[in-house]
Amino acid sequence: MTSIAHLYLSHLIDKDDIVIDATMGNGYDTLFLAKHAKKVYAFDIQKQALESTSLRLSKHQIDNVDLILDSHENFSTYVDTFQGVIFNLGYLPHGDKSITTKAQSTIKTIAQMLLKLDQHGYMIIVIYPGHPEGASESNEINHFLETLDTKKYKIIKTDLSYQDNLPPYIIWISKT
Ligand SMILES: C[S@@+](CC[C@H](N)C(=O)[O-])C[C@H]1O[C@@H](n2cnc3c(N)ncnc32)[C@H](O)[C@@H]1O
Repeated sequence: MTSIAHLYLSHLIDKDDIVIDATMGNGYDTLFLAKHAKKVYAFDIQKQALESTSLRLSKHQIDNVDLILDSHENFSTYVDTFQGVIFNLGYLPHGDKSITTKAQSTIKTIAQMLLKLDQHGYMIIVIYPGHPEGASESNEINHFLETLDTKKYKIIKTDLSYQDNLPPYIIWISKT
């Protein structure tokens, strides 16, 4: 799913874009964005994520990223105008599984970012319903998406319909 998310992003990102990685984790998405965009603002609430991402970026001599130890809920303190966002929800792989994204703060941030996103901007959300917190986050995000005005936003869902065990899926929202 991450590869597919990157495939979508590679189609969407312009080299002059300012983009947000709302859930930095181990920095795979941050690195991808940094290679394709002008500037990346990456957020995580765990110091471990910043350390891991910083190491990854330095190996690739990347210097167009601000790594921010703060919740994505506070994004507007750090970035004003932006063209794209990725959320890769859940917990830090190889980290503390009890520290995971939460429906309420995720949806609050998605809603605020959609309002601030540039005209023709894009948001990719990778959702993991296969763990308990992820299942309720997935349900609540879908309820929220149903409330969006489809004249303003086009929403595409990519899922592994024929696979068992609640696999991850992607939501791609384009501002029209
Ligand atoms: C699945 S990981 C992200 C994977 C990452 N994008 C990568 O490429 O490795 C989810 C991350 O979200 C972070 N997170 C949880 N709540 C957050 C919040 N409110 N703001 C920012 N990051 C948060 C977790 O600490 C965790 O590192």
